[in-house]
Amino acid sequence: MRMNASRAKDELLRLRDELEQQIQTKTEALRQANQHLLLDLADRMKAEVALRDSESQLRAMFENALDSMILLDDDRRILDANESAQQLFGYGIQELLALRWDALIPAGHVAEIEEHWKSVFEEGAKRGEIEVRRACGSARLVSFSARANIQPGRHLITLRDLTEQREAEDSLRLLSQRLMRLQDEERRRIARELHDSTGQSLSALAMHLDVVMAESHSLPPRAQKSAAEAVEICRTCSTDIRTISYLLHPPLLDEVGLLPALAWYVSGFSERSGVKVTKKICELSKPLAKELNTALFRIIQEALVNIHKHADSKEAKIELNKSDGKIVLEISDSGNGIDPARLRNGRNGARGLGVGITGMRERVRQLGGTLEIKRANPGTLVRASFPIMEEYDNGNT
Ligand SMILES: Nc1ncnc2c1ncn2[C@@H]1O[C@H](COP(=O)(O)OP(=O)(O)O)[C@@H](O)[C@H]1O
Ligand SMILES: [Mg+2]
Repeated sequence: MRMNASRAKDELLRLRDELEQQIQTKTEALRQANQHLLLDLADRMKAEVALRDSESQLRAMFENALDSMILLDDDRRILDANESAQQLFGYGIQELLALRWDALIPAGHVAEIEEHWKSVFEEGAKRGEIEVRRACGSARLVSFSARANIQPGRHLITLRDLTEQREAEDSLRLLSQRLMRLQDEERRRIARELHDSTGQSLSALAMHLDVVMAESHSLPPRAQKSAAEAVEICRTCSTDIRTISYLLHPPLLDEVGLLPALAWYVSGFSERSGVKVTKKICELSKPLAKELNTALFRIIQEALVNIHKHADSKEAKIELNKSDGKIVLEISDSGNGIDPARLRNGRNGARGLGVGITGMRERVRQLGGTLEIKRANPGTLVRASFPIMEEYDNGNT
């Protein structure tokens, strides 16, 4: 009996130790779990702070952007718009939030919206130019970049106002058109003046000198020599004046047209420059409009002078063809070729080019044509194409 009681006591003690052990293990596990929880909590709080930081950063970028930004839902309702967008459209944020994108497009362009909207979803993103309507009803030209689903069901449109830039470009274009026209008119006036007044005075001088020469035997030898020299100078002056006035404005260009003027100019150019010029000119059933003749002649003149000045070529070719309602002029050489860097700059605003090529481009643009200048290996090719304008075609000749 005593044996049993002592075994039971041992057993109880063992059980108590075991329980204590288990409690200690559990407590340790709980302590560790608690620590993990605390760490998790700290991480989560840190992540939340980081998220809030990056959200407020994005918000600041959105609000501060110079470009207008508008967020739309699937029904093109405005969900958000930044400060620049409010300025562009002339609406406050609350007014914008009550509108759909369609309300910002002029009535005549609404049909384009569906088309644009569809292709934004098909391609994921789209860029282009559109007209938008301000609160006051006036229109602005903007470039846009649209991206579908920047978050599910949220679509971003970024807009940049081009109106002022376009107006500045247009007025610059008008200004250079006016300059070019004034230059042509001025050249024509000076050419006529030189021919009609200085040229006539020289003719009269020549006649007087003829009289002097007829009587020159009665003059002392020194005076005879001077008279003979005066005749020679008078002749050179007449030729120079005629050449200069012809170069300033070939009279034949207005009277008989392009071909005789070109024949005259090209032969004089070859003689002076040593560049051999071949011409292949198509048949022209009707004379071309005066502006087109002037543009073709001036482009040929500039291209030939460029070949002489820059190309180091012994030959040049001029071709004029008529096809598909267009007149295509090509002037090529077999020289060292135009520097491609100049052409690249030229496309971004004509920085690498001089007045000559810029002027060519302007003349072509005025008449609704296109100008291409490229390396032709060897040499350079200048190609200008114009819609055909025959004389009496257009009312403003
Ligand atoms: N046929 C050509 N061959 C080689 N380089 C050319 C040719 N035509 C033009 N260029 C280059 O393009 C530049 C711009 O030409 P242009 O606008 O006529 O100005 P400019 O003749 O006054 O220099 C030239 O300075 C020259 O470097
Ligand atoms: Mg030049």
